[in-house]
Amino acid sequence: MTSIQSRYPLVAVVAMAKNRVIGDGQQLLWHIPGDLPRVKTLTMGRPLIMGRRTFESIGRALPGRANIVLTRQADWTGEGVITVSTMADAITAAEEWIAADKQRTGEIVIFGGGEIYSAFMPYLDVIDLTEVDLNPDGAALFPEWNTAEWTETSRTHHPSTDAAIGFDLIRLERRS
Ligand SMILES: NC(=O)c1ccc[n+]([C@@H]2O[C@H](COP(=O)([O-])OP(=O)(O)OC[C@H]3O[C@@H](n4cnc5c(N)ncnc54)[C@H](OP(=O)(O)O)[C@@H]3O)[C@@H](O)[C@H]2O)c1
Repeated sequence: MTSIQSRYPLVAVVAMAKNRVIGDGQQLLWHIPGDLPRVKTLTMGRPLIMGRRTFESIGRALPGRANIVLTRQADWTGEGVITVSTMADAITAAEEWIAADKQRTGEIVIFGGGEIYSAFMPYLDVIDLTEVDLNPDGAALFPEWNTAEWTETSRTHHPSTDAAIGFDLIRLERRS
C-alpha cells in the first residue's frame, strides 16, 4: 500500500452531484455561475495534482498554478505540465514548487478526477465541496468519506431558482 506524507495540507476541490457524480469524461455536467471563480480562488498560487484524464478534459494547463499530472504512460507529456508517475512523486513535485517561491501558498490541491480523489482520500486534510442539486449520469464519482472522521466547518446553501441550479458550498475538515 502506498504511503504518502506531505509537508503541506492536502485540500480536495470538487463539485459533486447528489449521487456523487463528478463527470462523464466529456463535457461539464452543469453550469453554476460563481463556481469557476470560486475554484480559481481556491487554487490560485497552489500546485494542482490531477489525473491525466482530468487534464485532457480541461485541455490546457491552468495559469498561476503548478499543473502536476499523474499518468502511468512513460511517454505522456503535456504543455506546461509536470508529469509524474506516482503519488509520492506528485507530492514531492508540489512541495518543491511551493518551496521555489515565497508568494506561493502552502497547500496542495487534489484536483481530481475520480481515480485521483479516491487514491488521495486517506490523506486529505480538507474537502472544499460544491454539492450540486442534480442526479446526472456519469462514470466518474467522488468517493464516500467516513463522516466520523470529518467535521463540516461551513455550509452555504444556494437554493435553486427558475434560472439556476441549487447548490451548497461545504467545507469539511478532518478531525485531528
Ligand atoms: N466535478 C469536479 O469537480 C471534477 C474535478 C476533476 C475532474 N472531474 C471529471 O472527472 C472525470 C475524470 O475522472 P477519472 O476518474 O475518469 O480520471 P482521472 O482521475 O482524472 O485520471 C485517471 C488517470 O490518472 C492516471 N492515474 C490514476 N492513478 C494513478 C496513479 N496512482 N499513478 C499514476 N497515474 C495514475 C491514469 O492515467 P493514464 O491512463 O495516462 O496512465 C488514469 O487513467 C472527467 O469527467 C472530469 O471532467 C470533475
